[in-house]
Amino acid sequence: MERLKILYNRILVRFCIIALSIITFSCDSIEEVDPVVNDPKDQDDDKDEEKDEEIVAIPLKELFKDYFPIGAAITPHHADANTDHGQALIKHFSSVTAENVMKPDALQRNKGVYTWDGADKIVQFAKTNNIQVRGHVLTWHSQTPNWMFYDQDGVLLSKEVALDQLEDHITAVMSRYKGDVYAWDVVNEALFDWDPNGEIIYREDSPWYKMFGESYIDSAFVFAHRADPNAKLFYNDYNSIFSWKRYKIYNLVKRLKDNNIPIDGLGIQGHWFVGTSEENIRTSLDLFRGLGVEIQITELDLPVYLSNEEPGSTVYTETFSARQKEAYKMIFQIFLDYSDIITNVTFWGIGDDASWLDKPGRKAFPFLLDEELQPKPAYFEVQKLLD
Ligand code: XIL
Repeated sequence: MERLKILYNRILVRFCIIALSIITFSCDSIEEVDPVVNDPKDQDDDKDEEKDEEIVAIPLKELFKDYFPIGAAITPHHADANTDHGQALIKHFSSVTAENVMKPDALQRNKGVYTWDGADKIVQFAKTNNIQVRGHVLTWHSQTPNWMFYDQDGVLLSKEVALDQLEDHITAVMSRYKGDVYAWDVVNEALFDWDPNGEIIYREDSPWYKMFGESYIDSAFVFAHRADPNAKLFYNDYNSIFSWKRYKIYNLVKRLKDNNIPIDGLGIQGHWFVGTSEENIRTSLDLFRGLGVEIQITELDLPVYLSNEEPGSTVYTETFSARQKEAYKMIFQIFLDYSDIITNVTFWGIGDDASWLDKPGRKAFPFLLDEELQPKPAYFEVQKLLD
C-alpha cells in the first residue's frame, strides 16, 4: 500500500512538471507572435518604409552606361581599392579627374622638376579598375607656379620664353599619360566672368593674357595636339549657363574652330546649385550644340543652399533633401535629353563627406552620395528617370 502511494505521488509530480512546461512554452510562443495591427494608417506607414528599403540602388555607371560615363574628381588618397572611397569609385564611376594633382603647380612646381607620384597613382588605379581619366588642367591663370609667368625679378616673361615653357610643360605631361588620359582640359577659365555690358571678353588680369593676348589659347591647343594627337582637347569654363558668359564661350570656341585650331570639346564646369534655372541650362546647350563639338559636364556640384545669405548647416535636413531631389532630377533629365552631344558627366567630388565648397559650420552636401558614400534620396530620383 505504502509502495502504491509513493508511485502515485511520483506520477502526480511528473504530471505537474509536464503541465507546467506546456504552460511556460505556450506563453513564450505567444510573446513572440507580432501584435495584431488594427490601425490602417500604421499599416500604410509600414508599407511606405518597406517601399523605400526595397529600392536597390543601381550603380551610377550602370545607370548611365548607354548615355555617358559618370566621373568624380578625386585625390590620390582616394585611388586605393582598400579605402571606402576607392570602393565607391569602383562601384559607381567610370571616369575620374584629378581634383588638384595634375595642375601645373602640382606637376611642375619648380622649373624642370616634375612630381608625378599623385597623378601616377590615380592613373594606375583607373587603369586597374577600367576607369577613364580626364586630365585637368594644362593652361590656367590659377594654381600655376610663378616661374611660368615671371622672371627672378618678378618681371613678366617675354612671349618667347613663356611659350617655350608652356610647350615643354604640355608635352611632358601629355606624353607621360599618352593613351591613359583620353581627354584634357587644355585651357581653363580664360574668359572674363561678368561685366555689365558683356564687353570685356577675356580675363585680362591673367598673366597669360598679359603676355600674349588671346593667342596663348590657340598655342596651347596646338601644343597639346602635337603632344598627343589622339587625346580629346577641351576648353573648360564656369558660369556657362548665364547670358553674359555663354556668348563669350560660344564665340571663343567658334573662333578656334574657324581657325582650324584643334579643339574637340567644351567643358561646362557645372558648379550650380539647387535653384539653378532649367531654362538657362537648356538655352546654353542649344547654343553650344551649334558648335559641333562634344560637351562634357566637368565639375558638377549642387550645394543645398538657395543663397549665400541662407544660414549654414552641418546637418542634411529634409528641406535640403527635397530641394536636391527636384534639382538633380531636373538636371539629369536635361543631360539625358542632350546625351547626343554630352559625352561625360563628372561630379567635383565623390560624396558629401568632402567638397571644395565646405566651410566651417556650412556644409555644401552637393552630391548624390552622402557622407557615408551611400545613395541619398536624390540618387533614387535620378534612378527613377531611367526606370
Ligand atoms: C578647386 C579644387 O577643388 C580645390 O581643392 C582647390 O583648392 C582649388 O581648385 N574650377 C576648376 C577646378 O577648374 O580646378 C577648381 O578646383 C574648382 C573651380
